[in-house]
Amino acid sequence: MNQIAHSTFFIVYPVGLEDLGLIELRDKFSLYYPNESFHLVKQIPGGLEIECSLFVGLRLNSILRCPTRLLLRLGEFKCRDAPKLFQKISKFPWASWLIGQTPEVESSATNSRLFDSRKIEKAIQDGVLQYYRHKPTKKKYLEHLALTESSDMPKIYFRSVEDLVTLSLDTTGERLHLRGEKTLMGLAPIRENLAALLLMELKSHLAPGPNTLVDPMCGSGTFLKEAYDYQSLTLNRKFAFSHTPIYLDSIVQHTPLIQLPLSNPFTAFMGYEKDAAVTLQAQKNCDSQKIKIQQADLCADSPIQLSNPVVVINPPYGVRIGERSDEVGDINLGYYLNIIKSVKNKFSPKIMGIIIPKDFLIKSNGDFNIHSARLFKNGGIDVVFYVLGFK
Ligand SMILES: C[S@@+](CC[C@H](N)C(=O)[O-])C[C@H]1O[C@@H](n2cnc3c(N)ncnc32)[C@H](O)[C@@H]1O
Repeated sequence: MNQIAHSTFFIVYPVGLEDLGLIELRDKFSLYYPNESFHLVKQIPGGLEIECSLFVGLRLNSILRCPTRLLLRLGEFKCRDAPKLFQKISKFPWASWLIGQTPEVESSATNSRLFDSRKIEKAIQDGVLQYYRHKPTKKKYLEHLALTESSDMPKIYFRSVEDLVTLSLDTTGERLHLRGEKTLMGLAPIRENLAALLLMELKSHLAPGPNTLVDPMCGSGTFLKEAYDYQSLTLNRKFAFSHTPIYLDSIVQHTPLIQLPLSNPFTAFMGYEKDAAVTLQAQKNCDSQKIKIQQADLCADSPIQLSNPVVVINPPYGVRIGERSDEVGDINLGYYLNIIKSVKNKFSPKIMGIIIPKDFLIKSNGDFNIHSARLFKNGGIDVVFYVLGFK
């Protein structure tokens, strides 16, 4: 494999939302790399496999906001036992990827004779150490290693399906939803990349023209911030790939990535939250002039007039830490239907996106039509993101 000209990446997304990730990838790839292209090898539950040039792929960590992480495919081979794995690893050309560390290993195996995660980890780590014995790491990389936290180093991902092993390097490090900014957490915040993905779905239902994005239960303000920041690059954090020889030796690391403008259907951002302390946190998180957060109870206060409101809402799913059952009442289908009615009465939007646990199936009725329904997991709970149109 020619690593520079043609690398294969697996971009990890929450299962069920991969096609939304592809919309962002297409949108931003053509903006940042108009003279290059990527090849979509396959779209499978949990991610997209693409081919593109190495440094472009690595930089997608800064450019994209929807993925969970980006894995660089290193190789594929048949392997049924630990000694063979050790042998394969000890002969792999690690000089481009490792700087003298004993790498951490993430493993998964399906229908494979080699499935014990401890044995897999030991064979890989011993194989890497054996490689270093024959090809000692250069001093400049060992110096970099001494200055780097071991948790920031790239992990090796081992996956075996029916004895076919795929070996990958994690280029990301801490998951991509961590944007490198300090965020104060409200009650049950949604992960930033999930919010970015659901906003892609919501945006696909909008007619051209400017809209006001409204989150009536905004918690820490994740949806509003992600919608506002759609074009922002993630530049305030390090990625695991920055600790690889190939990157340390490249001129790319001295070439800053410059943010380019992308059109945004949302031009105003309004958040409301019932809890006073959470409202204050959201105001601190959303310090942009464009995002306004106010304390308000969706079900109690009078109508609010906004220009072309589009609502996105993540109501509570159950009694969670910090929420008292007497505050949220019984959470059942009626609770969610009541929220939809309250949104309609308060904001009169044409479109609304709402997350509802899968157990509570909603159907189109005299008030609204279901435009789309997407099943995914949020915090381990099966939920559906509905996009509703009001009549
Ligand atoms: C699941 S959390 C939303 C999390 C948010 N999407 C985030 O990422 O931080 C639900 C929020 O709704 C707020 N809430 C509950 N009932 C409300 C009501 N009637 N009006 C306004 N906010 C309400 C809760 O205080 C909580 O912050």
